[in-house]
Amino acid sequence: MDKPLSVVVLISGSGSNLQALIDDSRKHQLYKISAVISNKEAAKGLERARQAEIPSRYLDHKGFADRHGFDQQLIRIIDRFQPDLVLLAGFMRILTAGFVQHYQRRMLNIHPSLLPRHKGLNTHLQALKSGDSEHGASVHFVTANLDSGPVIAQGKLSIQSEDSADSLAQKVLQLEHQIYPLVVRWFAENRLDFIDGQVQLDSLPLSQPVVFDFS
Ligand code: GRF
Repeated sequence: MDKPLSVVVLISGSGSNLQALIDDSRKHQLYKISAVISNKEAAKGLERARQAEIPSRYLDHKGFADRHGFDQQLIRIIDRFQPDLVLLAGFMRILTAGFVQHYQRRMLNIHPSLLPRHKGLNTHLQALKSGDSEHGASVHFVTANLDSGPVIAQGKLSIQSEDSADSLAQKVLQLEHQIYPLVVRWFAENRLDFIDGQVQLDSLPLSQPVVFDFS
């Protein structure tokens, strides 16, 4: 049997997406989470990794003079696990261009909005304040500009009149747990690539993200 795809997951917090990926990797056996790395010692995701007997590391960004120093050390730690794919799963750091370049074509992120709408933080509040009728999450390849890499897949839902930022956060997380593992499986099955700035799915250019409607 081929060696399963090696995946390193970067987190800063709860790690509910990490948990979805752990569960999915075990169910489908298409990829293996080789390590989980956090820049926050108290991240619940580190405990999830321990429970799943996945190697975990903590690297405090505050111990470095600048972003470059932290990112270079992070690369050294990540690369010991020889990843085929690096996943940002609630990793709350802005990455240097050098870091992004090092993992180009093999780093994905999940962002809680229908990109290109609502980059950055507080996306649920942003969606409500903008009067949006739809909201959701996007999985994208990571490029040097924050939350701007080409989107592969989105999960969307309708915003209800009674929704708050908290209720949206809950609902969007649920769909994140479906779409992120799905895209990772596509990558593991060699269905996904990112060539010359263009996402390809099944060897065809992906002009629009694949959208899953969870309304
Ligand atoms: C998710 O909403 C994800 O989209 C964003 O950060 C949050 C992480 O949640 N990038 P969790 O740590 O996976 O529970």
